[in-house]
Amino acid sequence: VISGKIVVFGSYINDLVGRGPDLPRPGETVKGTLFQMGPGGKGFNQAVAARRAAGDVVFITKVGPGLFGDLALTNIKTEGISLTYVFRNPEIETGTALITVNEKTGQNQILVTIGACGTITEKEIAKARTDIVSADIILMQFETNMDAIAKTIKMANRAKVPIILNPAPVQEISDDLLPLVDIITPNETEASVLSGVKVDGLSSVHEAAQFFLDKGLKKVVITLGEKGVYARTEDDEIFLPAVDYAPVVDTTGAGDAFNGVLAVALAQGRDFFEAVRFSNVAASLSTSRYGSSKSMPCRDEIERYYNL
Ligand code: RIB
Repeated sequence: VISGKIVVFGSYINDLVGRGPDLPRPGETVKGTLFQMGPGGKGFNQAVAARRAAGDVVFITKVGPGLFGDLALTNIKTEGISLTYVFRNPEIETGTALITVNEKTGQNQILVTIGACGTITEKEIAKARTDIVSADIILMQFETNMDAIAKTIKMANRAKVPIILNPAPVQEISDDLLPLVDIITPNETEASVLSGVKVDGLSSVHEAAQFFLDKGLKKVVITLGEKGVYARTEDDEIFLPAVDYAPVVDTTGAGDAFNGVLAVALAQGRDFFEAVRFSNVAASLSTSRYGSSKSMPCRDEIERYYNL
């Protein structure tokens, strides 16, 4: 474990994944080739990515009752992540994602029902306060209830803990919260919705990033899928193409690999653009295997490819 505490505040979701050569259009039924169930959720995936990259991770989430809730606890523990802040709602089911993956392209479609992780209370956040305010970095997404996100952002910001916000799945965020975020990491769609600039090329990506800088954020990363990643600060910018080490079989969780590893690299003290390059390697590696949290690479592997 490297020094630097990373708090991940986010979802745990049970992923139900079907693969097939073609994905159904509305009203259509198509036959798939493989079904798998596995642990996911943007919060958990990012926590696993950070943990496997040797981060000291504290995970805050909420799961439901019964078998799926119990399974979540087992899966979280198996990754070496503490259950201290894994809260439970006895009535609302653990979040579920219905994921279809096109096996020709590795692209996915996801319908996520956040369930229990949409019911995080103020009291639960208060229980995690000591760890939130003493973190070196906090990493958040949009798969929990917005009031809990708002409360946690304010708590972290007051304690001067840098906040990375991965605004996925995209949702409006109020103008008083956005400036409290240090680094925002949308993908193209999320950047387009939030900034109002249609992101479809390098000049529009620059313009969308400017929108966030104008709002008071310090750094912006826009992930561009198979095209790579763009990162911008007030004075500098880079574009890194995706690295293709191996054939892409499943892009689920690639953004999460990026965010989890970015948090570790920054907590470890790497320069921002170097951290982006390191995380870009991790994201590419994750697309070469099936699954969401299961596809996260280990630190050795990231370093090996990073140093190529
Ligand atoms: O980012 C991928 C994740 O999004 C999946 O694991 C699924 O749970 C969805 O929430």
